[in-house]
Amino acid sequence: MSRVSGLRSSLFRFLCICSVIAYSVTDAKAGITSSFVRSEWPSTDIPLDDEAFIVPEDPNAPQQVRITQGDYDGRAVIISWVTKADPGRSVVFYGLSEHQYDHHALGYVKNYTFYNYKSGYIHHCLVDGLEHDTKYYYKIGTGDSREFWFETPPEIDPDAPYTFGIIGDLGQTYNSLSTLEHYMRSGGKTVLFVGDLSYADRYEYDNGVRWDSWGQFVEKSAAYQPWIWAAGNHEIEYQPHLGETQPFKPFLHRYTTPYLASKSSSPLWYAIRRASAHIIVLSSYSPFVKYTPQWTWLHGELKRVDREKTPWLIVLMHVPLYNSNEAHYMEGESMRVVFESWFVQYKVDLVFAGHVHAYERSYRISNINYNITSGDRYPVPDKSAPVYITVGDGGNQEGLAGRFTNLQPDYSAFREASYGHSTLELKNRTHAFYRWNRNDDGKQVPTDSVQFHNQYWASNQKRRKHRHLRMSSHIASC
Ligand SMILES: *[C@@H]1O[C@H](CO)[C@@H](O)[C@H](O)[C@H]1NC(C)=O
Ligand SMILES: *[C@@H]1O[C@H](CO)[C@@H](O)[C@H](O)[C@H]1NC(C)=O
Ligand SMILES: *[C@@H]1O[C@H](CO)[C@@H](O)[C@H](O)[C@H]1NC(C)=O
Ligand SMILES: [Fe+2]
Repeated sequence: MSRVSGLRSSLFRFLCICSVIAYSVTDAKAGITSSFVRSEWPSTDIPLDDEAFIVPEDPNAPQQVRITQGDYDGRAVIISWVTKADPGRSVVFYGLSEHQYDHHALGYVKNYTFYNYKSGYIHHCLVDGLEHDTKYYYKIGTGDSREFWFETPPEIDPDAPYTFGIIGDLGQTYNSLSTLEHYMRSGGKTVLFVGDLSYADRYEYDNGVRWDSWGQFVEKSAAYQPWIWAAGNHEIEYQPHLGETQPFKPFLHRYTTPYLASKSSSPLWYAIRRASAHIIVLSSYSPFVKYTPQWTWLHGELKRVDREKTPWLIVLMHVPLYNSNEAHYMEGESMRVVFESWFVQYKVDLVFAGHVHAYERSYRISNINYNITSGDRYPVPDKSAPVYITVGDGGNQEGLAGRFTNLQPDYSAFREASYGHSTLELKNRTHAFYRWNRNDDGKQVPTDSVQFHNQYWASNQKRRKHRHLRMSSHIASC
C-alpha cells in the first residue's frame, strides 16, 4: 500500500468512525439532510434515435414487451406488447424450457387515438395457472417473433424471502437510464413503480411517440420481471384544449393491472400478494374521501390482509403523505387525513411514494390526533405507524427537487436530492433489509440503509426491547 493511499484509507476510516459516533450520540430523532450534490447529466430526454429505444426491424415484430402480475397470489402474469403495422394475433406461447413452448394463451388487442396520434396495436394476454417459483420461457409474435423469460414468485408464505425494487418518476433521460441500469444490477425481482412513467404528456401534441419510446426503454427489465404499476399525475393527461377529456386514457390502454383479482372496480387501485408481502396500490388522483369507490375498496382490502400469511404490508401511492421538500409541499395532506388512521390501525410496514424528485425517509410517526378544534397538530412518534419513503428520484426531464425546508422536521429521518432507486429485501417474517441506492454508487458517500422489523410479527414477540426501528444508516456505506 502506498503512503498516500494508506493515509487516504485511514482518513476514510476515521471519517466513517466519526460519522457512526456522531450518529449514535445524537438523539435518535435527529434526522440527516445529506449535503451530497451529484454531478448530473442535463435533464433532457434521450433522443428518439438512441439505442435506448431501439425497436426490432420488422415493422410488425412485437415491441414494448412487459409483464405485470396477473392475479392475487402470483400464479399468473399479464404480458403486454405493441405491434405497429397490424394487429396480428394476440397469442403467447410459453413453456418450461427455452425454444420449447408447449402451451399458449390468447389475449386481446386495443388501440386508441390521442389528438392526432394513432396508437399501434396494444396486446394484453393473461397467462395463468402457473407454478410458483418456476422459470418460464415465452414467445410472442407470429412471423418475426421474440423470446423472453420470467420467474414466478415463491408460494405465499410468511417466511418467503423476496427482493423488490422501488422506482418512481422515471422518465426517459440519461439519468433515468442510469437509474434503470443500477436497478437491473441490484438483484430486485419485481419493481414497485410509484407513478409518473414516461413524462410523454410534456410533449402534448405528439405524446404517443414518447409513450412508445418509454415502453421500449423499460423493456430490458419489464419483459423479464413484473412491474407493479401505480399511476401519477403525468398519467392523467386531461387536455380539454386537445379534445382529450378522459383521464388516464393512454395509460389505461397501455398498462394493465390485476385489479379484478382483488375485487377492485378500477385498474388504478388494487392489491396483490407476492411471497411474504401484501401490496396495496392506491391512486392519488382518483376520489378517495369517505364513501367513494376507492375508500370503500381499501376499507375491505385492509380487512382481507392476513399477516399470518403475508407479514409485510406495503402501500404504494404517487403523492407522499409526509414530505419536507418545497416541491409538492403538503399535496398529500388530503389523503393523509382520510387514510392515515387506517395505516396506523392495520400497522402498515411501509408506504412508498414518488412525485417529489428527491429521496426522503421518515421515522414511524403519525398525526392522527389532529383536531382543528383543540389545535393539536403535530406528528408524534408512533410505534404502530408506517415508515414513509419518497423515491420520486428516478431521473425524469423535470430535474431534481433540490430545496428541502430549511430545518429538517422531527419526523424526517434522512433526505437527499439525488437520483436513485430503493431495494427492499424481505428476509423472513420479522426482518427486512432496506436500502436506497444513489446512482453515483461508485463513490464512498453515505446512502440510506435500514433494517426494518415487521410491524405485526416483531410486536407479537417479547424480544421487542429494541427500538421499533433499528437504524444502520452510514454503517453499510463504510
Ligand atoms: C383501431 O384499429 C382498427 C383496425 O385497424 C381501426 O379500424 C380503428 O379505427 C382503430 N381505432 C382507433 C380508435 O384508432
Ligand atoms: C377535539 O378537541 C375538542 C376541544 O378540545 C374536544 O372537545 C373534542 O373532543 C376533540 N375531538 C376529538 C375527536 O378528539
Ligand atoms: C430472520 O432474518 C434475520 C436477518 O437475516 C435473521 O437475523 C433472523 O435470525 C431470521 N429469523 C429467523 C427466525 O430465521
Ligand atoms: Fe408526479
